[in-house]
Amino acid sequence: MIRVLKNIITKKPILIIYDVTKLCNERCPMCNIWKTKSNDMNLDQIKIIAKRLKKFGIGYVFIQGGEPTLRKDLIDIIDIFIKNKIKPTVITNGILLNRELAEQIAIRKCNLAISIDSLDEEKFKKYRGVDILSKVKENILNISNIKRKGNWAITTTISKLTTINEIKKLENFANTYGFMYAIRPYIYVNGNAGKKEDDLIYSYDDVKEIFEYMLNRARKNNYFASLIYEEHIKYMKKEVMPECDAMKYSLVMKEDGIFAPCIEFTNKQVDIDDFNKNKKKYKKILCECNNTTPCFYNDAREIGILLRKKWRIILNIPKLIKQMILYGNFF
Ligand SMILES: C[S@@+](CC[C@H](N)C(=O)[O-])C[C@H]1O[C@@H](n2cnc3c(N)ncnc32)[C@H](O)[C@@H]1O
Ligand code: SF4
Ligand code: SF4
Repeated sequence: MIRVLKNIITKKPILIIYDVTKLCNERCPMCNIWKTKSNDMNLDQIKIIAKRLKKFGIGYVFIQGGEPTLRKDLIDIIDIFIKNKIKPTVITNGILLNRELAEQIAIRKCNLAISIDSLDEEKFKKYRGVDILSKVKENILNISNIKRKGNWAITTTISKLTTINEIKKLENFANTYGFMYAIRPYIYVNGNAGKKEDDLIYSYDDVKEIFEYMLNRARKNNYFASLIYEEHIKYMKKEVMPECDAMKYSLVMKEDGIFAPCIEFTNKQVDIDDFNKNKKKYKKILCECNNTTPCFYNDAREIGILLRKKWRIILNIPKLIKQMILYGNFF
């Protein structure tokens, strides 16, 4: 905790987005992250790098990709981060999330986010490129009664194609099976992570009803999410965004162990042993991106938002405690 606080005060990253593999078993039209070749680190390499991350002051890791469950040693990877006091969140499409794997994740008090964009088979296939909704649903039903302390959520990426009815069905599905439910906007910036797909591009009016619905729901039972949805709405209305979290509170680690400022700039290498010099080097390009083509990936804004809204958070501690009892501990 002291490491993390020190980094927050000195505006150094506390969160690593780790693309644990670039391989994936889905083909979402919104995503350019997956690749057919991936130079993944082995466990020994991950052990060394996790130690460096601990020393650097990292407190949280999002294990994503690509699809993290394609790695047979996912639990060993989780253990390495836990051993180094770095809390993992596994972000998965859920296809390979069987009960055994989920139980291992639960025992370790890890956070888990499962991405589902629709409960309609045809639309799921369109959003995810594969016809596998029934398997993902079956997995969720099978793991729903596992006791856990981490936060387990179902998340949906909202595009022009998403309807409010789909969101209500997904919210109901998540609640029925004991998962938190959250939404995020579809993004594209320079095509490195988010893929530009004309069908998916929305104006605020296209998605207004969905975000306002979720904001009102969150104000009642998910205070943290309500703070994020308020900012989603400003973003989608194209209001000026405060500085993003890239290199300030978060950093990307590619599958080969190379660091980068954020998921859209994985071609820019960051040396964490000479971090301040690297931060200066990329400041202009990151500011320019934030001013001209801002993104709102979860790793790019959420810590900044929570820190900027800290006084509101402090004043609403009872709501947060209620939320954590209901949905598990994020931190
Ligand atoms: C890149 S995926 C990696 C983990 C896993 N394969 C999955 O889909 O959950 C992480 C999250 O990014 C979301 N995502 C992918 N492309 C996106 C885009 N263009 N804009 C916003 N979110 C996106 C996915 O829906 C998923 O929730
Ligand atoms: S969003 Fe996730 S599941 Fe879809 S292609 Fe990208 S990495 Fe794979
Ligand atoms: S706004 Fe920030 S986090 Fe998003 S793509 Fe640009 S530099 Fe990266």
